Amino acid sequence: MDTICLILVVLVIGCYGYKAESGSYTLKLENASFEDLHSMFKKIKGTGTGLSQHNKVFSAFAASLTASKTLGNGEIVKFNKVWTNINNDYDQITGVYTAPQPGVYQFSCSVMTQNDKKLRVYLWKNKERTVAIYPGYTGHNMGTLNMVLQLEKGDKVYIKHGGGGREIHSNTGSNYSMFSGYLIR
Ligand SMILES: *[C@@H]1O[C@H](CO)[C@@H](O)[C@H](O)[C@H]1NC(C)=O
Ligand SMILES: *[C@@H]1O[C@H](CO)[C@@H](O)[C@H](O)[C@H]1NC(C)=O
Repeated sequence: MDTICLILVVLVIGCYGYKAESGSYTLKLENASFEDLHSMFKKIKGTGTGLSQHNKVFSAFAASLTASKTLGNGEIVKFNKVWTNINNDYDQITGVYTAPQPGVYQFSCSVMTQNDKKLRVYLWKNKERTVAIYPGYTGHNMGTLNMVLQLEKGDKVYIKHGGGGREIHSNTGSNYSMFSGYLIR
């Protein structure tokens, strides 16, 4: 009985796989797990989010700072010059990016210190500190962070000062300090 079922399933999948070859993906039966099959069927029915399906939402932003600043203790950095804000998920008034849908996101931040000063900032995901940059001391120094985060809809991501140096440098001519991010998938 089990064998007959298996043969039936293989035949049915085979048919769908054949039918789908003209489409955008090829079925790999070899390692098909129930999850794969489930997501494939959902995709065939047009209701699910299959791997090769395009995002429903495209979200991307980049913003820089127009002036140097001494950050308040634990202050969120408001990168105020917006270069890109597709889907408007970045708010330059608060400095916070809000994820529009569940997915995997990329974030980057570069900051420059004021002359002979230190600066420490963190990338936050909601109430959770993730990674830090801590450039200092002599002259101007730069630090960069790159992070990939899996987010739920409504998760908040931002750059915030944390203990130590608070002197961030930027200006309208040079845009040394910036923050960007986008939905990968
Ligand atoms: C199937 O899985 C095995 C073991 O995980 C792996 O060695 C093999 O390359 C996989 N085949 C395909 C087509 O992905
Ligand atoms: C910084 O941005 C301004 C526009 O706000 C632009 O005119 C200037 O060329 C930029 N500077 C650099 C170094 O990219």
